[in-house]
Amino acid sequence: MADARGLRPSPTARLRFRELVQGDLDELAALLGDPEAMAYYPEPKTREQTADWIERTAVSQREHGHTLWAIEGHDGEFLGDCGITWQSYNGIAVREIGYHLVRARQGQGLATEAARSCLELARREFPGETLTAIIHPDNVASRRVAEKLGMIHIADDHAHPWITRTVMGLVLPSR
Ligand SMILES: CC(C)(COP(=O)(O)OP(=O)(O)OC[C@H]1O[C@@H](n2cnc3c(N)ncnc32)[C@H](O)[C@@H]1OP(=O)(O)O)[C@@H](O)C(=O)NCCC(=O)NCCS
Repeated sequence: MADARGLRPSPTARLRFRELVQGDLDELAALLGDPEAMAYYPEPKTREQTADWIERTAVSQREHGHTLWAIEGHDGEFLGDCGITWQSYNGIAVREIGYHLVRARQGQGLATEAARSCLELARREFPGETLTAIIHPDNVASRRVAEKLGMIHIADDHAHPWITRTVMGLVLPSR
């Protein structure tokens, strides 16, 4: 589904968005390779997997017009990623909001702030769609961010034999 819109969420009081680049590899690999930050993933990402991750964000931006963007402070401090990608649950394709914050900056409302800007973009661009956050059932922080966006528990994802994921979602208002 090619979409050349090249979207990007608006900056917020404390952060701004840009595309991830391979120059982010050291900082992103430290975040995605951190066993504690990645506790709710099958395993932390290796440096090589993180390089692939960055590459896939570029493909998503090119093909769909949106992706997981880098989030950074207005002084350029790398804070993590947040954005919108295509995912699926129970075989249903949906746009999903995702976020990963560097550990030292967690608990300061930054993921919520970034996610709200992505939600605004989704409201503008995808009216009438269901926007989701597909979450490990024990990931309380992630679920809380989704709830603060106004999402509710809409389904359980049974696509994987080893885990039932919680699907949070909201319907974006129609124009
Ligand atoms: C999920 C994550 C992005 C949240 O980032 P954050 O910037 O710390 O979140 P916020 O500061 O915006 O907090 C949002 C809410 O979650 C709560 N919260 C944050 N960490 C929490 C924790 N460890 N346990 C319980 N609640 C937590 C906050 O208190 C806040 O709720 P409140 O306003 O009602 O108090 C961050 O924990 C993270 O990067 N985790 C690892 C990656 C990950 O799991 N991503 C999600 C994949 S689905």
